[in-house]
Amino acid sequence: MAVWSIFEGKLSISHFPSQPTKNLHTALGNFTIPYWVLHSIDNILNGFRTSKLHRFKHPDVENWALVTGASDGIGEGFAHELAERGFHIVLHGRNPEKLQKKQALLKTAYPAVKTRLWIADAMQDVSKEELMEAVRGLHLTLLINNVGGLPPGVDPYIALDDQSFGHIDRTVHMNVGFATKLEAALLSVLSENQPSCILNISSLATLGSPYVSVYAGSKGYINAHSLSLQYELWGRGKDILVHSILVGKVNSNSFSGEQAFTTPSSRVMARATLDNLGLGRCVMTPYLPHLLQASAFSILPEFLARRFMWDAVVASMKENREGKIKKS
Ligand SMILES: NC(=O)c1ccc[n+]([C@@H]2O[C@H](COP(=O)([O-])OP(=O)(O)OC[C@H]3O[C@@H](n4cnc5c(N)ncnc54)[C@H](OP(=O)(O)O)[C@@H]3O)[C@@H](O)[C@H]2O)c1
Repeated sequence: MAVWSIFEGKLSISHFPSQPTKNLHTALGNFTIPYWVLHSIDNILNGFRTSKLHRFKHPDVENWALVTGASDGIGEGFAHELAERGFHIVLHGRNPEKLQKKQALLKTAYPAVKTRLWIADAMQDVSKEELMEAVRGLHLTLLINNVGGLPPGVDPYIALDDQSFGHIDRTVHMNVGFATKLEAALLSVLSENQPSCILNISSLATLGSPYVSVYAGSKGYINAHSLSLQYELWGRGKDILVHSILVGKVNSNSFSGEQAFTTPSSRVMARATLDNLGLGRCVMTPYLPHLLQASAFSILPEFLARRFMWDAVVASMKENREGKIKKS
C-alpha cells in the first residue's frame, strides 16, 4: 500500500513500513497511547481535585510553617500565600534587616499571623541543635525547603572547569546539604505533629542545563531524595507528605526575566504549588505552563533536546543579564 509524503519540500510516494517495523510501531503505540491518555486524564482530573493543604492545618492549635529563603522570590511568595491561608510562619534568611522588612510587610497584610525570624547562612554547615532551635515550642506541620540557587557575586552561568571548588561546595550545600539536614533535624517534630508535609523546591534544570550543571545535579538529588524519603516514611507508617516541586522560569530576585505565561510571578508559583499539594506524584510540576513545557521536552529525541536546551539556556542568560541591567 502506498502513501504520499513530503520530504525536504518534495512530494513523494512511498510504501508502508515493513512488517517488523510495523510491529515495533504497534508495540510502541500500545504502550505510549494509553500512557498519554491516562496521564492527561489524571492531569485534567487534578483541576477538579482539591489540595490536601487543609490536612496540615490542625484544629484548636496554632499551625506553623517554616519557609527557608523567605526574604525574597518564591519563598516570600510562599510566606504570603500561607499567611493568607491562616498559617503562622518561621521566616528564614541570611540578612536580618531585609528579613525584618519582609516580616513587617507580612504583619501589615495579615495582622493575625504570627512570625518568627531565623537567621542562618544556607551555604555554611549548621548543627542539628541550631536547626531544631528554629522551631522550638512551635506546632510545625509544614516545612518548605525553598532556599537554593547559586552563590552570589558571580554570573550564575559558569562552565564547570571555570568553577572553584569553594563555589561547587557552596552550591551543593545550599541546594542539598542544608535542606537534607533540616529534614533530618525536624522529622521527629513533623512526625509528632502528623499529618504534616515537606516541600522541597527543585527545578526543571534537571532536564539538563548547560553552564549550571552542579546546580542541576543538586536538584536531581532533591528529586531522588524526596521520592526515597516519601517511600521510607510511608513504609514506617508516617503520615508525612513529601513533594519535590519542579519549577521552571519564575520572576524572582535570582531570575530577572520578564513575567510571562511561562514565567509567572513568585507569588503565582507559590499559589500553584499549594493548590496542588497531595495531587499527582511526589515529584511534580504544579504550574501548568511549566508542566506543558516539560512534557513537550520529554518526548524529544536527545539530539533535539540537547540543541533545544543549549538554545534555551543561552536565551535565559541573555534575558537574565538584560533584566539585571534594567533592575539596577
Ligand atoms: N526563579 C527561578 O526561575 C527558579 C527556577 C527553578 C527553580 N528555582 C528554585 O526556587 C527556589 C527559590 O528561588 P528564587 O528564584 O525565589 O530565589 P531568590 O529570589 O534569589 O530568593 C532566594 C531566597 O533565599 C535566600 N538565600 C539565598 N542564599 C541564601 C543563603 N546562603 N542563606 C540563607 N538564605 C539565602 C535569599 O535571601 P536574600 O534576600 O538575603 O538574598 C532569598 O530569601 C530555589 O530553590 C531555586 O533553585 C527558581
